[in-house]
Amino acid sequence: MNATAIAHPNIALVKYWGKRNRALNLPAVPSVSVTLAPFETKTSVQWGGDSDRFVINGVAATGAAQQRIASFLNLIDPSRPPVFVDSTNNFPTAAGLASSSSAFAALALAATAAAGRQMVLEDLSVLARQGSGSACRSLWGGFVTWRLGTQSDGTDSHGVPIDNEAHWDLRVVVALVSDQKKAVSSRDGMNRTQESSPLFDGWVTSGPNDVAEAEAAIRSRDLERLGTVMEHSTMKMVGTMVSAQPAVLYMKPSTLAVLHAVRELRSRGVPAWSTMDAGPNVKVLTTPEAEAAVIEHLRPHVPKVHSLSVGGPARLL
Ligand code: PMV
Repeated sequence: MNATAIAHPNIALVKYWGKRNRALNLPAVPSVSVTLAPFETKTSVQWGGDSDRFVINGVAATGAAQQRIASFLNLIDPSRPPVFVDSTNNFPTAAGLASSSSAFAALALAATAAAGRQMVLEDLSVLARQGSGSACRSLWGGFVTWRLGTQSDGTDSHGVPIDNEAHWDLRVVVALVSDQKKAVSSRDGMNRTQESSPLFDGWVTSGPNDVAEAEAAIRSRDLERLGTVMEHSTMKMVGTMVSAQPAVLYMKPSTLAVLHAVRELRSRGVPAWSTMDAGPNVKVLTTPEAEAAVIEHLRPHVPKVHSLSVGGPARLL
């Protein structure tokens, strides 16, 4: 059978960094995200054919990428037939713009449908999580918490919606420092940090409180409260990265320039808060009213600026 799905990426407002179980992608900390449009991944799956073939942005996947997709499909059915996957992003891949979150959410949805499996969103989220942790938050639109869970098999570690995309009209301005593929994957960066940063324990123990704070801020639409906890969570995560051995350093000189520019905007009364992920790009949380001022202020520092809105859920076409 054939199926096609679309999913938006999400960015973490409270960050996921570190795992308590690597094979299952069970997180060391809970996290909170916002789903973003119009960035999206569109994935078509044909379940049954002559041989596996996985095409990503028009290029056949090989090596580790190919193996990662094959293993993911085996989770759906260990005795599956050969599968054809064709996946396209309308934004840069593997550059710290959360492309793996939309990729594995879209693949989970399209592949299970093509395999004739009916699955509830929570189970799709558990499946997507095993492809890429952050993907478990991209099944829903709007604002999502990824619960830590307590089960050793990971069945209760999945996304839980806080509220949908209609709840709060926000903007995320992406200051694109670079759209090159990152040198250290989030998977490797996370593992190295967890193994060698002396700050990692503090990161883990302080995480749940940030999630509670972000959930309350989202429910009450308090942007200053949300922005403050988002920056704090981001800087703590970066602190664990740069204190790893050897340091995991994703920031470039213009990353730092943008972080300072955002602080300067805020000192002038513009509502703007920064976050980063496993890459040099900065994403700035702001209001629709302040969006133009943020874009204008950041543009001199970076080659490209994108502006994103709160996106809807993953869906089958
Ligand atoms: O889903 P992964 O394995 O690409 O990890 C994502 C990690 C961060 O983007 C840095 C944080 C997050 O919560 O998305």
